[in-house]
Amino acid sequence: MSTLPARKFRNPRAKHDFKGRTCSIASVGSYVPDRIVTNAELEKLVDTTDDWITSRTGIKERRIAAADEFTSDLGAKAARRAMEKAGITADQIDLIIVSTITPDMPFPSTACLVQQKLGATRAAAFDLEAACSGFIYGLEVGQQFIMSRTYDTVLVIGAEKLSSIINWKDRNTCVLFGDGAGAAILQSRPNSHGLLTACMGADGAKAELLSMPGGGSRCPATVASVSDGLHFLRMEGKETFKSAVNAMCSAANEVLRRCEIDITQVKLVIPHQANQRIIDAVGDRLGTKPGQVFVNLHKYGNTSAASVAIALDEAVTSGQVQRGDLVLLVVFGAGLTWGAAVIEW
Ligand code: UT7
Repeated sequence: MSTLPARKFRNPRAKHDFKGRTCSIASVGSYVPDRIVTNAELEKLVDTTDDWITSRTGIKERRIAAADEFTSDLGAKAARRAMEKAGITADQIDLIIVSTITPDMPFPSTACLVQQKLGATRAAAFDLEAACSGFIYGLEVGQQFIMSRTYDTVLVIGAEKLSSIINWKDRNTCVLFGDGAGAAILQSRPNSHGLLTACMGADGAKAELLSMPGGGSRCPATVASVSDGLHFLRMEGKETFKSAVNAMCSAANEVLRRCEIDITQVKLVIPHQANQRIIDAVGDRLGTKPGQVFVNLHKYGNTSAASVAIALDEAVTSGQVQRGDLVLLVVFGAGLTWGAAVIEW
């Protein structure tokens, strides 16, 4: 029998016999590099304007990591901040999941490199690749280990050094992305529901819309692949935009339905930060009120797997989310992939 107090929502996991076990987000932390690159600086690199970038995307600036700062460094810094807030030490971590499309190298995993940096010697570690949907995929995978009692403490990180795969001569993409990392500590804590439900989706038929064609088994690195620019991120923006709005709305509605709540009961919606027009379209279709949708896109651009993790940390730190509030996370990215989650913070 659960000892949890009655809540005004349904916990979809209650139908399973978890004997009171829940998956709580004990803390979140984030890190962005110091270097700010403004739209004005990009005007000097490519044929673009601050006005175009601001009106078409909502982005004003982004953070770019130093040459000697890698995805594992960003992830480890975000993780240390989350660990400090949760009051846990590295030796308590059972599992590290790093969601990223910009690993330090193809192998070993960035999660193993983070494990070494944190000194989390007891932890198992692996990477998960779901592009911009990676943080929700990571939370959902991590919570399975908590609910099954396999592990007690799971560290989920979304970290990206997207600047390392951007073609700085391509105005269609270089203005959109930034570097950063966010981390969450998952634990089962008494009297806390935490992650109520999450859904994940994918459509590999649309893989070509957003990809980096080179560097894998299909197209290993050669002089020709490098000179053809196959090791840079490519995107068909308009088609990706349409798919994003549809997939994010249906994923959000799915998790609201599972929890038997409507949008008015959600304190804050935290969508993937890719484009202000996508965020507005999703907010409109879900029927959100002014101020109910969190935005930090103007400061960081699209940080892929780190995006909603950084946003959740900023929402908590700024007091926009308090313990007990319901938060809706909703994401979309290459794959295509998408997902949504309801959290009782
Ligand atoms: O995180 C994963 C998911 N990612 C997304 O969801 C991103 C989805 N897509 C988008 O956010 C938008 O499609 C973009 C911001 C990428 C592009 O906006 P758009 O309104 O779809 O513009 P467009 O691609 O249709 O381009 C319109 C025009 C083009 O010129 P012409 O062909 O009309 O003469 C582009 O060449 O804007 C031009 N353009 C630019 N102009 C100035 C494209 N990029 C730029 C730029 N500066 N940086």
